[in-house]
Amino acid sequence: MPAVVIVGAQWGDEGKGKATDLLGSRVDYVVKFNGGNNAGHTVVIGEEKYALHLLPSGILTPGCVPVIGNGVVVDIGVLFEEIDGLEARGVDTSQLKVSASAHVIPEYNKVLDKVTERFLGSRKIGTTGRGIGPTYADKMNRQGIRVQDIFDEKILTQKVEGALELKNQLLTKVYNRRAVTVDEVVEDLLSYADRLAPFVADTTLLLDRAIADGKIVLLEAGQATMLDVDHGTYPFVTSSSATAGGAATGSGIAPTRIERVIGIVKAYTTRVGEGPFPTELFDASGDFLREQGGEFGTTTGRPRRCGWYDSVVARYSARINGVTDFVLTKLDVLTGLETIPVCVAYDVDGVRHEEMPVNQTDFHHAVPVYEELPGWSEDISGARSFEDLPANAQAYVRRVEELSGARISVVGVGPGREQAVVRHDLI
Ligand code: GDP
Ligand code: IMO
Ligand code: MG
Repeated sequence: MPAVVIVGAQWGDEGKGKATDLLGSRVDYVVKFNGGNNAGHTVVIGEEKYALHLLPSGILTPGCVPVIGNGVVVDIGVLFEEIDGLEARGVDTSQLKVSASAHVIPEYNKVLDKVTERFLGSRKIGTTGRGIGPTYADKMNRQGIRVQDIFDEKILTQKVEGALELKNQLLTKVYNRRAVTVDEVVEDLLSYADRLAPFVADTTLLLDRAIADGKIVLLEAGQATMLDVDHGTYPFVTSSSATAGGAATGSGIAPTRIERVIGIVKAYTTRVGEGPFPTELFDASGDFLREQGGEFGTTTGRPRRCGWYDSVVARYSARINGVTDFVLTKLDVLTGLETIPVCVAYDVDGVRHEEMPVNQTDFHHAVPVYEELPGWSEDISGARSFEDLPANAQAYVRRVEELSGARISVVGVGPGREQAVVRHDLI
């Protein structure tokens, strides 16, 4: 099995980090292929808890090579903060590889991200403010700065000059901020060159050779299908391709090498930031999920919006990503509920929709059609086989599987590495 993809099947924070960590010992390379430090993955190993933003979760597995692919946007300051934080806790980061073609997030794009949000007012996206959108916009606009540019002062200066011509007009004339000088940007980026150099590689060649040698490569998405710039709830999305298709472009691994696509899906739904969310709860049930599930963002600390499981979203994700296996996480969070509603379809202005409405306005008007499933009260956090789960928890998994368009191969019953029920091996 040469390449395997892990994607978020909802609006993020499904537990991709834990799933990647779970597979870490079976794979040789873990590649982050999209996004940047807008991601936040919490991985719990024994008593230790790690919060990763920019580094692939595979960094926690000894012997696994972590790779930051060409599709990622890199805040170099954050990269070294994260490396230093892990090294201080005894994690070896020396094997990290960073694509020479990945784009870097210059300071001015962080400023632009925040002022643009303020400018949008009630139309804001609720971004993480990390400069992600402006940096991807520069990339598409052919005004981006890439990792390789940092090693050539002349080229770097030219590119920064080019980018700032327009940015400074925006900053001063539209947003009433101070202009940025070419020198300060260039100096800041150059200051990282010596430390960054040993990590930089032609990662597409490296990964191709690894696959030719029979190694297994895991491609780990940040964000999720419903936040994908093409397939998500546009414009309330992130600015990258967070779906399985993005794994090929964001890593340089050919699509024909990808044999399995693992969709990570929570046993309920959460969302951070603005945008439509049909099954969102505004009552005590929402508070229950937020408290039981610890639904507060790893990156910004914002309380996550919570709602019931949405099988229209899951089916859509199965289709868009070609999901071969789902990992259903956080089933333990539902323990104690008498009944558990699951959304099976939407009612849009009196018309039943089993599939994701193509029109965004319809999605905004979607009212969930629920099926009520019986709950359970037993603690399931110690379950290690499917048979260990109470009958109603098993029935919940089976019904959700039936509705979601792919088999559920693993069920998460707690945050710990070992807290999972494996029904079918993923690799
Ligand atoms: P990611 O961004 O997709 O990697 O997910 P996050 O790390 O942002 O959010 C998932 C949270 O759920 C983390 O705090 C995990 O430790 C936790 N988690 C993952 N799987 C499970 C599970 O099966 N049960 C419980 N209770 N927590 C889980
Ligand atoms: P992980 O990888 C949840 C959301 C933001 C905002 C929108 C755009 O941990 O699942 P951006 O800063 O990317 O321009 O913000 O996307 N968002 C996430 N929500 N999990 C994430 O990552 C997210 N990354 C971005 O809240 O609504
Ligand atoms: Mg997260």
